[in-house]
Amino acid sequence: MALLCVLLWFLLVVTAHVTDAQRGPRSRLILTEASDYPVSWESRNTPSPQPGAGPEPGDRAPAFQVPTLDGKFSYDPAEGALKESLVIHAFTNKSGFLECLWSSESSLKSLVKGLPDRTQVLFLSLDDSAVSDALWMREQLDRAAAHSGRKEILTQLHFCPVPVFALGNWIPNVLYYWGCMGHNCGLSQAVFTSDAWKMPIIIKRLDARYDWLMGRWSAKTYQLADAGDGCKPSPSLGGAVAWVSEGNCSFFTKVQSMAKSNASGVLVYSLPGNPIQDMNCVDLQCFLPLGIPAAMVHQEVSVAQALR
Ligand SMILES: *[C@@H]1O[C@H](CO)[C@@H](O)[C@H](O)[C@H]1NC(C)=O
Ligand SMILES: *[C@@H]1O[C@H](CO)[C@@H](O)[C@H](O)[C@H]1NC(C)=O
Ligand SMILES: *[C@@H]1O[C@H](CO)[C@@H](O)[C@H](O)[C@H]1NC(C)=O
Repeated sequence: MALLCVLLWFLLVVTAHVTDAQRGPRSRLILTEASDYPVSWESRNTPSPQPGAGPEPGDRAPAFQVPTLDGKFSYDPAEGALKESLVIHAFTNKSGFLECLWSSESSLKSLVKGLPDRTQVLFLSLDDSAVSDALWMREQLDRAAAHSGRKEILTQLHFCPVPVFALGNWIPNVLYYWGCMGHNCGLSQAVFTSDAWKMPIIIKRLDARYDWLMGRWSAKTYQLADAGDGCKPSPSLGGAVAWVSEGNCSFFTKVQSMAKSNASGVLVYSLPGNPIQDMNCVDLQCFLPLGIPAAMVHQEVSVAQALR
């Protein structure tokens, strides 16, 4: 039986609102966490848009072929594929979580070091950018395999340059219509609005959720305030979410000093050209729980300007 690793998502929205643009030197953003709500993917309990269009959980996966960067990949249960496992991973750069996963040396290393024998992995892209996504994923894993001295693993990895929606087999049905559990199914976003803007700015975000950092965004309105690099407590944040740059100190130090400044949360933005990263603690820091939520996003020039 093929093992299908299915990545679906729900949309989680943090709305933000820039106000006070004219009042005082420091303007504020307002963040509101809307409830999590699933978009367009229906579970099998609700009427599916295409009932019976694809396999159900537990069904034997039908044979298929897809083009890859290195030729054709064929899966055929009649030809011995049942003795192997197949993992299908679908990438989208619209997910902060997946961007972080694919940019992280340690996660790539654990994949190349920990992949069992007799397991094939098929990497797909959900987007129109499938060709460049496939090339990029292959490059990331080539490098990780070379660093780990496990180049032989590359024969088990297959990169498809055709977007999922254009595969023309059962895989899109499974990826779009099977449910996904757990918090990394979502396409988490931050939505910023300002009285000065006609349209909101919406960007992907990666929430930092660890044992030492259990804070959650709540369904209320927050303001946002620029707090520089966030490495030192700032006297002036009372209740606002801190907008801080990465760098100059650890993520832990930023969250801790912003909590001390009475921030209600922290949005760390990556410096230009840097990916969204894992915001975990190191060593002893990990034993000190902090109570506010934190997330990582890309730098957004208009937001930074609105905060000046
Ligand atoms: C993913 O998106 C970020 C910006 O959102 C961009 O800098 C990066 O190059 C993209 N990566 C890929 C593989 O498309
Ligand atoms: C890091 O600290 C230096 C010196 O205080 C400052 O000039 C710089 O802007 C800081 N970097 C970031 C990314 O905030
Ligand atoms: C944070 O809030 C507490 C309680 O309201 C207050 O005593 C403290 O002075 C505040 N700290 C800062 C840095 O504003």
